[in-house]
Amino acid sequence: MSASTFLRRFAAIAAAALLLTPVLTVPEPALALENGLARTPPMGFNNWNSTHCRAEFDEAMIKGIADIFVSQGLKDVGYRYVNIDDCWALPTRNAQGDLQPDPKRFPSGIKALADYVHSKGLKFGIYTSAGTKTCNTAGFPGGLGHEQRDANLFASWGVDYLKYDNCNNQGVDAQKRYKAMRDALARTGRPIVYSICEWGRSEPKVWTWGEPVGNLWRTTGDISDNWTSMIGKAKANRVLAKYAGPGHWNDPDMLEVGNGGMTATEYRTHFSLWAMMAAPLLIGSDLRKAGAETFGILKNTDIIALDQDPLGKQATVVSSDGGLVVYNKVLANGDRAVALSNENTSAATIGTTAAALGIGGAPSYLLKDLWSKATRTTTGKISASVPAHGTVVYRVSKGSGSVTRHEAEAGTVSAGGTIDSNHAGFSGTGFVNGANAVGSHVEWKVDAASAGPVRVSFGYANGTTSNRPVDVSVNGTVVATGVAFAGTGAWTAWSTVSRSLDLAAGTNTIRLTATTPDGPANLDYADLATG
Ligand code: GCU
Repeated sequence: MSASTFLRRFAAIAAAALLLTPVLTVPEPALALENGLARTPPMGFNNWNSTHCRAEFDEAMIKGIADIFVSQGLKDVGYRYVNIDDCWALPTRNAQGDLQPDPKRFPSGIKALADYVHSKGLKFGIYTSAGTKTCNTAGFPGGLGHEQRDANLFASWGVDYLKYDNCNNQGVDAQKRYKAMRDALARTGRPIVYSICEWGRSEPKVWTWGEPVGNLWRTTGDISDNWTSMIGKAKANRVLAKYAGPGHWNDPDMLEVGNGGMTATEYRTHFSLWAMMAAPLLIGSDLRKAGAETFGILKNTDIIALDQDPLGKQATVVSSDGGLVVYNKVLANGDRAVALSNENTSAATIGTTAAALGIGGAPSYLLKDLWSKATRTTTGKISASVPAHGTVVYRVSKGSGSVTRHEAEAGTVSAGGTIDSNHAGFSGTGFVNGANAVGSHVEWKVDAASAGPVRVSFGYANGTTSNRPVDVSVNGTVVATGVAFAGTGAWTAWSTVSRSLDLAAGTNTIRLTATTPDGPANLDYADLATG
């Protein structure tokens, strides 16, 4: 049944139940949380990470964020929910027992604010706690024992999302508390995303019972705006992949991107890992003060597409070796997203293979770097030099064409060059150790079926720390000068340098000529990829 049919039917059942008896029974478990919402992880905003309870959290701020969602194109790339956190209410309920908005912060009331957010084509979310009071020391009233009254009030205001916290819970069983609010929300008949904010605290763990209860559940305590906190949340959350899926997500907490406590590299890692883990993407910075760098991260549509992939698979960890971590996310169209994440304080090469990602066997693969946007082909090896605290994210697709390998030892080598085999890991029977001189070169004869661009990847090793640049020529014409062949760390560490080269139909010559007295790197092969 479609989500809307479901909601209509469910609302009818709930309405009938309300008429029949004031003591409501839980509807059939099958009707539990499949509320049709959050088929992909929720995207939006929440003020907490930026303001906590400070006075700048107010009506003007929230309206301003809604305006920016539209004017800066955040709505266009998928951000929908504009959510408010703790401290929106007065410390006491009114005479009827209802929660009351703080008139200083929200002079027009919450209904008017929700209406404003809705008028922008966005959705509105609110916060309370599954306890007698919320977390703030001012003692704002919580929802424990008031579930239906509060849910009804939220629904009457037009709330679309509830974050339900865990403070002052009086030791009442978590499942009991969170199911009570789930059922109260369902009875309102209004579709409301239900965010369980229990911090992964109680036993049994929320991820083992969360699926029929909430649309998402916090797996950790609160995030702070620093590397240690952020990467700690990622580590705790990345082992829980099997519990996530459409309608029910692991939540490692809201984004800190743009709050100033991390470098741009670290924020890109934060955003990349959250997307890989199919985490909710709730912006936690005051966008009214955000600069181009913050918007650039938050609006990376290639990364967002990973988070919002309709298959809804959270990335799993392929390997984790001394802080060098490879994440693999299976995507709906059969592609893989791979994140090469460096948790250490110095740059490192991190690698994996298409086979390790579960898509081995194709003759070639296209790799798109989702931050730099560069593309290249590979026959299966996937690796990158990753800066300290950085993350390289590739979308990996099977190539449609094929790759033809031309070994360097089968090419023509200029005077002084030798064919060696003393450094393991080369392809074929050896590699070319060119003379250490300017002008030293290797040349391949290659065939092209038709004229046009062909992706050529040169396999090489450079065991020094100096670049060994070459000029690339095709049919006697230099088409690229000073192409870098950077150090690979060891003579046994093989890497590739790729270029798109325009070939003529028929036989072509491709030559690499050293431009420094060190000569060329050790050259292993030239791979020509089509498609
Ligand atoms: C070392 C290494 C060679 C390499 C050479 C160089 O001798 O073993 O394989 O070609 O350095 O610097 O070019």
